Amino acid sequence: MSPQKTFLVFGATGQTGRHFTTLALNDGHRVRALVRTPKKLDITDPNLEVHQGSITDNPDLDALLDALLSGVDAVVCMIGDAPLQKTQKVNTAFVRTLIPAMRRQGVTRFLYQAGGLSAAPNRRLSPVIWLIRNTVARGFIGQHRDNEAVMHYLSDEAHDIEWMAHRAGIGSDGPSKGELERSRTKVSVATFGDCAAYNYRLISDASAIHSADLSAYRKK
Ligand SMILES: NC(=O)c1ccc[n+]([C@@H]2O[C@H](COP(=O)([O-])OP(=O)(O)OC[C@H]3O[C@@H](n4cnc5c(N)ncnc54)[C@H](OP(=O)(O)O)[C@@H]3O)[C@@H](O)[C@H]2O)c1
Repeated sequence: MSPQKTFLVFGATGQTGRHFTTLALNDGHRVRALVRTPKKLDITDPNLEVHQGSITDNPDLDALLDALLSGVDAVVCMIGDAPLQKTQKVNTAFVRTLIPAMRRQGVTRFLYQAGGLSAAPNRRLSPVIWLIRNTVARGFIGQHRDNEAVMHYLSDEAHDIEWMAHRAGIGSDGPSKGELERSRTKVSVATFGDCAAYNYRLISDASAIHSADLSAYRKK
């Protein structure tokens, strides 16, 4: 095992987050998770610390974040609420509060999971991806706009933070289909588990700092 780290995880009850949490705990690391409904997190481990709360409905998010960030090595955000994100950029508002809190607490490493249909900062979507986003995946457009605003903020205003964004293409849960690798142009329809495993590797990869790349399965 590499030296024990403490990960602060947002979205630990979600489809990617629960896999990430299990992977980190199985490797002997500590996970601190903020979750709205603790009973949804069916993982028991002495290294798992669960805090009940929300990123949107919190009277003092600054104080909560200061407490959660104490002693943390890296922050991983796999949060999404597609219905709410149709009308509000909740993730952007949250990350704009989180990054200053990370600065206050001296935490520098941050991974944000966006989607493969979200454009990287200052880059255009390919015509095929643009078409998918605006037709069959139109119901998630608010989520993509929110993810893009997060990545713009990180790119424009958080250069001092070792952030990395994963523009994930996820299709389903299920058995692993292989190992994902970082790609500027290619995206695979991956499993939640494979995306979580990729996030887990990426967060320790210094070469990924300030990247907002896609992920694709490594050719066998
Ligand atoms: N699903 C996909 O196919 C897909 C594909 C590509 C990219 N993505 C991106 O990946 C990210 C995560 O997606 P996912 O599918 O793994 O997640 P998910 O299954 O939709 O779960 C979202 C997580 O966010 C949490 N959450 C939502 N609002 C919250 C709030 N106000 N306070 C605290 N926690 C809150 C949820 O908690 P509760 O359990 O309490 O609801 C849950 O743990 C999103 O940014 C999404 O855009 C998803």
